[in-house]
Amino acid sequence: MNRKIEHVEICLYENVEGHGATLLDDVQLIHQAFPALSFEEVDISTEFLGKRLEAPIVISGMTGGSPELGRFNSTIATAAQKHGIAMGVGSQRVALEKPETRESFAVVRKVAKDIPIIANIGAPQLLKGYGTKELEELVSMINADALAIHFNAAQEVFQPEGEPDYSQRLLDLLGEISHSLSVPIIVKETGNGMSMETVARFRRVGINYFDLQGAGGTSWVAVEMYRGMRRNNWKWRSAELFRGWGVPTAASIVEARTMAPDSVLIGSGGIRNGLDGAKALALGADLVGMALPAIRAAVEGIEALDRFIGEFKFQLRVASFLTGSSSVKELKRAPLVVGGKLKEWIESRGLDLSTYTKVRTRRV
Ligand SMILES: Cc1cc2nc3c(=O)[nH]c(=O)nc-3n(C[C@H](O)[C@H](O)[C@H](O)COP(=O)(O)O)c2cc1C
Repeated sequence: MNRKIEHVEICLYENVEGHGATLLDDVQLIHQAFPALSFEEVDISTEFLGKRLEAPIVISGMTGGSPELGRFNSTIATAAQKHGIAMGVGSQRVALEKPETRESFAVVRKVAKDIPIIANIGAPQLLKGYGTKELEELVSMINADALAIHFNAAQEVFQPEGEPDYSQRLLDLLGEISHSLSVPIIVKETGNGMSMETVARFRRVGINYFDLQGAGGTSWVAVEMYRGMRRNNWKWRSAELFRGWGVPTAASIVEARTMAPDSVLIGSGGIRNGLDGAKALALGADLVGMALPAIRAAVEGIEALDRFIGEFKFQLRVASFLTGSSSVKELKRAPLVVGGKLKEWIESRGLDLSTYTKVRTRRV
């Protein structure tokens, strides 16, 4: 079976959600009995990559590469365009190797003419010689507004046929490309999150957009565990041990915002509803991203995805209203309480929690 199709099938039908939590449950937004606004006034629109979004939401990159997977892209693009939110496509490496698969990506721009669309490629491909020319091809294939370069070290190491090469040279290449590409580069994890140290490294080579994809949502280590079990590959038992590995999403937002006060941060990984989204924004993210809930709704059809996104936006607006926030900018300033493991995490990383919750630099 084609690897991508197998990945999608496992994500749809197996238990792939990370055992480690996002730690968003340790964040509480403060209810305001008198919000000093009417619900109608709440406006959650925002700007991303030079375009206006109706809500600060990105459907994270997932599919493309065959006609079936192109249909998922088309469904997601239709819903994203209708709701005025951004979307990414899955890794386009296959489209460089097999030009006949391009249409399964290109369909996205045909359906969604106005929204930001994000191209996608795995970081290890840079070491294999993919340079500005190939990356520009990925961008022009879908008329993308940005290119996500995904970092999936934990997945590669457990993938039966994985090639976990993340040597220093990759960072140098990333720096070169970030200065020559026609669109911004978004450095993206795939479910294990980014730490302060990682964000600092990327910042030093000129990266300003981070899609954090923390732990607590889809675990790609778990996905590879299922593939390993099916193949009787010895790595699956170790994958089971590491399936919750990573920087939890809430902790990753705090770490990244501390290190990159003026960068664009997408808070993602295990975001499942509008309340998770509101917490991620209040904690320091500029937008929120999600993958698994979108594809699980898309497989049921466009109506299910439409309903899911509509409810997510409603929940985000409710959280804004009840915290007395009339805009994303105000939500990002809403008071919050941080407790439990997240508090411990922040303190043991040497950060001052009360300073952080007061400062939380915001872009919007
Ligand atoms: C079916 C599926 C396919 C994915 N394919 C890609 C991919 O090609 N490139 C990528 O950067 N991330 C890929 N991801 C990872 C997601 O973009 C995201 O980082 C991860 O699933 C965590 O988010 P979630 O908890 O909301 O699912 C994929 C996720 C899913 C569920």
